[in-house]
Amino acid sequence: MESYGTLPDGREVGLYTLVNSHGLRAKVTDFGAILVSMETPDRDGTLAPITLGFDTLEGWLKDDCYLGATVGRFGNRVRDGKFTVDGKEYTLATNNTPGGIPCHLHGGVVGFNKRLWDAQPSADGHSVTFTYLSPDGEEGYPGNLTARVTYTLTDDNELIWEAEATTDATTPLNMVHHTYWNLGGDLSTPILDHLLALDADTFLPTDSGLIPTGEKAPVDGTPMNFKEPRVIGERIEADFEPLHLAGGYDHCWVVNGEPGTLRPAARLSHPGSGRVMEVITDQPGIQFYAGNFLPNYRTGLCLETQNFPDAPNQPAFPDSLVRPGETYRHVMVHRFGVE
Ligand code: BGC
Repeated sequence: MESYGTLPDGREVGLYTLVNSHGLRAKVTDFGAILVSMETPDRDGTLAPITLGFDTLEGWLKDDCYLGATVGRFGNRVRDGKFTVDGKEYTLATNNTPGGIPCHLHGGVVGFNKRLWDAQPSADGHSVTFTYLSPDGEEGYPGNLTARVTYTLTDDNELIWEAEATTDATTPLNMVHHTYWNLGGDLSTPILDHLLALDADTFLPTDSGLIPTGEKAPVDGTPMNFKEPRVIGERIEADFEPLHLAGGYDHCWVVNGEPGTLRPAARLSHPGSGRVMEVITDQPGIQFYAGNFLPNYRTGLCLETQNFPDAPNQPAFPDSLVRPGETYRHVMVHRFGVE
């Protein structure tokens, strides 16, 4: 552990470096359980950073794009910032207004990404576990929640982000890992030349406030079809209503196969560098966000495995409630390679 500086209230922030036997390097911090950087080799073996981030802690303190963040309690959007549990209505911050319509986004004003977590590096040096106690009522959510996130860098060139949580009162939960990837290694270049494949036959269309309508729409015959690898820039400006509403790709795809079992969700590759990243998850959905709202427009893309947006208000969506006695689990594997 090295010091990553101090918070305005004086608490010390740590930076942890994970290195594997092939030289891949991941840096994580206990502030926000954030992935600060990830470096992988290109097809010639040259190591380069492939995630958007900041040089210093100050950058993450000010960040409003959730770079590298662990997002919670509920990642993605909740309609009107409201949900009902056991007959009681809860009101959350409405900190996002797509299409001029207020909604709750990524856990609220001070989400998990702005909290200082406890850190516990593993004895073998391959992983770090971060723990955060989110008190009852925090950001409007019920229950004292114990959230845990472990980053592991394996010798199989996998970066694993694993979340689990328990609570003493029923609460919605959708912990999300929010790294912006740019496999080219030049972080100022748009990601439009990357090839993406998604293991998804359907996606979730939204209304103009980017809340899912509840429909699962087939991707066939639309610019949302990534069943085979496609260049991201090829259809991002297509005349297709869901793309107009979101200003590009910013949607949740329904990952094929059974939620709760680990299965492939996405494959991202960059022809110039040869870098490849596969994403494997146990979650129902994957949000592919092309960085349309980034100050440096579309210079990174997110592949966020998660439950469906607005799940707390949509009974047909997978259950998003964690109850006392249950353990929430979310596994996300990033497997790096070259071709
Ligand atoms: C969402 C975007 C949002 C961004 C905030 C993404 O997960 O899909 O709509 O603007 O997070 O950085």
